[in-house]
Amino acid sequence: MSKTPIMVLENVSKYYGLNGSVVKALKEVNFELNEGEVLILMGPSGAGKTTLLSVMGLLLHPTEGKIYFEDNIYDSKTKPEFLTETRRDSIGFIFQSFNLVKSLTVLQNVELMCKIGKLNKNGYKKRCEDMLKMLNMGHRLNHEPKNLSGGERQRVAIARALINEPKLIFADEPTRNLDSENGKNIGEYFRKIADERGTTILIATHDDRLKFCADRIIHMEDGILLN
Ligand SMILES: Nc1ncnc2c1ncn2[C@@H]1O[C@H](COP(=O)(O)OP(=O)(O)OP(=O)(O)O)[C@@H](O)[C@H]1O
Ligand SMILES: [Mg+2]
Repeated sequence: MSKTPIMVLENVSKYYGLNGSVVKALKEVNFELNEGEVLILMGPSGAGKTTLLSVMGLLLHPTEGKIYFEDNIYDSKTKPEFLTETRRDSIGFIFQSFNLVKSLTVLQNVELMCKIGKLNKNGYKKRCEDMLKMLNMGHRLNHEPKNLSGGERQRVAIARALINEPKLIFADEPTRNLDSENGKNIGEYFRKIADERGTTILIATHDDRLKFCADRIIHMEDGILLN
């Protein structure tokens, strides 16, 4: 596999201010993500995995350091609107909280992403249906989120993150609520889009069963990236 960096982190730190004290959640992280690779990020609870995904995914500003992505540099002073714009166009998230729209059905939740995405709008309904069927959600298209199980909601969130074919995907514990068959299915799909479309995927997980889909496994402890 050729190694073309898609995102580079240079001395990235993230501090949270909390009641006058400071939590150093990321400490001078240097790191490259390459095009078309699937990476698994492991580490104990509180190690900084969600924080790293949030900073790399441009949901949070780094406190110090720089992030290079798509010919731009992001740092503590980058305008929030610019972070939002880049995120919307190029990055997909599967996060620990699902953020589904309560008043919309499963299918409508996924369609909504197509309406605000930049991909060709033709035939998006069929694309959404196919994606949900692939995730074994074909029988729940017209249900509202409140009538779904945790694992079903998780799969709708995954469909939403993937439907616009972002070139970079961050997934925080994507298989947490899933049984082994659906977990394996997600891993296989990540592998497939990395190989076929060159999508880059960073997965934070405690789930050893996802290791089969990874090119690289990295570890974090106490805000430090170990390898
Ligand atoms: N908003 C916040 N304000 C203050 N401290 C925070 C905040 N979010 C996270 N932290 C702290 O930063 C550190 C890293 O947290 P983070 O959520 O990134 O860990 P994690 O590796 O994702 O853990 P887990 O495996 O439990 O999800 C922890 O010490 C946590 O308490
Ligand atoms: Mg976390």
